Amino acid sequence: MIKSRIIGTGSYAPQRILSNHDLEKIVDTSDEWIATRTGIKERRIADGETTTDIAVKACKKALKSASIPPDEIDLIIAATVTSDMIFPSTACFLQSHLGIKKNIPAFDVSAACSGFLYAIDVADKYIKTNAAKNVLVVGVDVFSKIIDWHDRNTCILFGDGAGAVLLSAEKGNRGILSSHIFSNGHYWNMLYTPSNICSSPFKSSSHSHKCEEPYLKMEGNKIFKLAVQTMGEACQEALDHNNITADELAFLIPHQANARIINATAERMGLPQEKVFINLDRYGNTSAGSIPIALDELAQSGRLNKGDLLLMVAFGGGLTWGATLVKW
Ligand code: ACO
Repeated sequence: MIKSRIIGTGSYAPQRILSNHDLEKIVDTSDEWIATRTGIKERRIADGETTTDIAVKACKKALKSASIPPDEIDLIIAATVTSDMIFPSTACFLQSHLGIKKNIPAFDVSAACSGFLYAIDVADKYIKTNAAKNVLVVGVDVFSKIIDWHDRNTCILFGDGAGAVLLSAEKGNRGILSSHIFSNGHYWNMLYTPSNICSSPFKSSSHSHKCEEPYLKMEGNKIFKLAVQTMGEACQEALDHNNITADELAFLIPHQANARIINATAERMGLPQEKVFINLDRYGNTSAGSIPIALDELAQSGRLNKGDLLLMVAFGGGLTWGATLVKW
């Protein structure tokens, strides 16, 4: 049976650090409030770097760690909601910036903070159906450009960054064991960013989507509860599907949105803290970059052993959510 194995990881976050104390000078907030309510201490902010620049750096590291030259890539999938342009896609920009000469497919996946797990789901299906051997998957977002920096409810939460993996077709029992992705579009308006492209001479005044400021809007409390519920359910589905229990997991890599959401999810699963990977204190919520940055840091730390079971779980705008079980 062919499996998609992660044979390389890489990540990159912009050098500029924005601490909670820096935010105290921008909005009415405090380091104490942010740290207690979210677990975040600082985040990285793109200062002159584009979404593509950040993604390229993560991808180059992933390719290097996989020892795969760019021309052996059969497919590029970029998970992002903050592309540099409406089109071309970030994936097409990556094909060009990585110097790939072959005419391979390259496209973006839009699922906000769940984007990386959505992209992994697609990549896994390409590999299992023999449509691709080596797939480059990158999760990248630059939320600093869609944040209202006057809104203390949201601007404290997010940061910029990218993480990438190289998935390769391999026989054996290592790799992605199962992937479970979900959405509920009825909840779209709990978390969204309007487009600023709304002018048209053909637009009637009764148009349902009014032109709003193109900044992220969020109902934090509702999102919080749904995140705990849906991430818990997705984790359980992945465990049940593979007939394993939570205590067999080596690590849980949750979407890094809020330490309280992560702790509640882990508690629901009965997982001890040392098995839950957290780096949101240093990055905040990097949306699609969140899980692959965490995965890369965990891989680089040397704490992962061959055969370890890793569960990745995400939640984001859409609403979207999902879980992926990996045998390392
Ligand atoms: N600094 C100080 N006070 C603040 C701040 C701030 N930055 N933000 C809000 N407050 C105030 C509020 O105004 C409110 O004051 P009031 O009681 O006088 O009205 C008080 O703090 C409590 O506000 P709540 O919103 O109830 O605070 P809560 O404990 O729920 O924490 C938070 C808010 C951190 C946003 C939390 O709800 C959360 O993390 N929700 C999930 C958000 C999330 O993960 N979104 C991303 C999803 S992924 C994606 O796809 C992008």
